[in-house]
Amino acid sequence: MDSVAECVRKDRDFVITQESTSPLRACDARLSCSAPADPESHPPLEATIRRLYFNTIALAPMVRAGTLPLRALALSYGCDVVYSEEIIDRKLMQCVREENRALGTIDFVTTGNRKGDSGKESRRLVFQTVPQEKPRVVFQLGTRNPEWAVEAARLVQHDVAAIDLNMGCPKKFSIQDGMGAALLDNPATAASLVKALRQALPHKPVSCKIRLLDASLPMTKTLAFARAMEEAGACALNVHLRTKQDKASDPARWELLRPLVAALAIPVIANGDVYRQEDVEQLLAASHCAGVMLARPVLYNPSLLRTLRFVSPSCGRPVPGDKSSEDAISSTGSSPPLPLLPLMDVIRTYLHLCSCYESHVSNVKYVVLEMIVRRRHPEYVRRHLAPLELPENINVASVSKAKTLQALGTLFGIEAGASSGLEGVHLCLDSYFDAEQLEGTKSMVKGRDGEPRANASEELGEGKRRKIRDVQFLRADCEIPGMQ
Ligand SMILES: Cc1cc2nc3c(=O)[nH]c(=O)nc-3n(C[C@H](O)[C@H](O)[C@H](O)COP(=O)(O)O)c2cc1C
Repeated sequence: MDSVAECVRKDRDFVITQESTSPLRACDARLSCSAPADPESHPPLEATIRRLYFNTIALAPMVRAGTLPLRALALSYGCDVVYSEEIIDRKLMQCVREENRALGTIDFVTTGNRKGDSGKESRRLVFQTVPQEKPRVVFQLGTRNPEWAVEAARLVQHDVAAIDLNMGCPKKFSIQDGMGAALLDNPATAASLVKALRQALPHKPVSCKIRLLDASLPMTKTLAFARAMEEAGACALNVHLRTKQDKASDPARWELLRPLVAALAIPVIANGDVYRQEDVEQLLAASHCAGVMLARPVLYNPSLLRTLRFVSPSCGRPVPGDKSSEDAISSTGSSPPLPLLPLMDVIRTYLHLCSCYESHVSNVKYVVLEMIVRRRHPEYVRRHLAPLELPENINVASVSKAKTLQALGTLFGIEAGASSGLEGVHLCLDSYFDAEQLEGTKSMVKGRDGEPRANASEELGEGKRRKIRDVQFLRADCEIPGMQ
């Protein structure tokens, strides 16, 4: 652990640093939780739109995985924009915003009507962010009701850069309630959501994440739906290039994106099976999309984000009237792509972040297991993934067995400190996660109710404040083959 090299991108404004030898508990928030300085001041909408949706590489929304540690990790690897996991409007409406000075985070916590196992009122952490990610974090809302959508979005508006509406989730949980992909069949409701949010929060960009409505050209239904969202005021469209009927294992339909990009004035971000730089280039050439969005590839190895550049010859489409958008050459300035990092090192860094933000161990295990099980990648991609190189003692059983972050840290060779006992309880709306498929991980299915975190700051005290310090990776120069 002594050979240390800087491998975060210097041109990004979100640099996480940490000492590789620091114990799990020896973290400290780099910035205190003082933002937003003036909640009423907003950056110009055009500038935010340019930053978020043009020449962009984005971390896709992922239930359970897309919490603060993974987002922070993605940003440190040069990702331009990070989406929160989907959070349902009514759940957010039950929350209060709390500044957690001990962790440097802003927590949205349910006020707690339900009783936990202990009989105490249960408080659940629904969304956690830090001021540093505000310019680049997009909050994904699950909703079907314009009033609820506005009420929920108002709560987080000063802590996030933009709102995204989930119009693509095909799971029963979403659809039966008229949310997610059900909105694709109900363009009037979908448009009313966009309109309501744009009217209520005119300074916040609103995007829609959709799936394809057609499985072939001429894309009549998809085009009609997309135009309706644009007319309603959507600032960007994130397109998962599969239909509701497609399986996650079917190849994404990259070839269908071009007409959509051509028909719309707003930026279109392509999503589905983007694992390699050549995928980015192929998609860009075929569709002229404004950016790409990645979900499962980040679960393969989050440092994959370091290996990608979105370089559009036309710089994406400049925002009309905004001269500075012409300066944007690529998603990452002129810095060259960096190699993939060994998964073990990446997981260690992820565990550090989870410790800094006191993530709930079940969520952390979920993400780590996704990284080592690799069950979600399409078969045609899986064949090309580099072999997993993990020590023998790291497997599904050993990760599942770890009951605390400390235990996980020890398993991954990180010096573990004593537990603060303050792991955040994270509520998961787990429509994507089918734990039964994953042997030995049944304990991950439900988040457990934990102790209230109300007194976290006091309990931790000054001496135990957690620190995010230089995340210096172990061997930045090591030649680990990525995708062949
Ligand atoms: C674990 C997991 C959770 C997901 N959760 C969400 C979600 O909360 N909201 C959403 O719009 N899509 C969600 N998706 C779908 C992804 O955002 C993305 O559209 C899909 O995986 C295709 O992209 P990919 O090929 O890069 O994985 C999820 C996908 C995965 C694998």
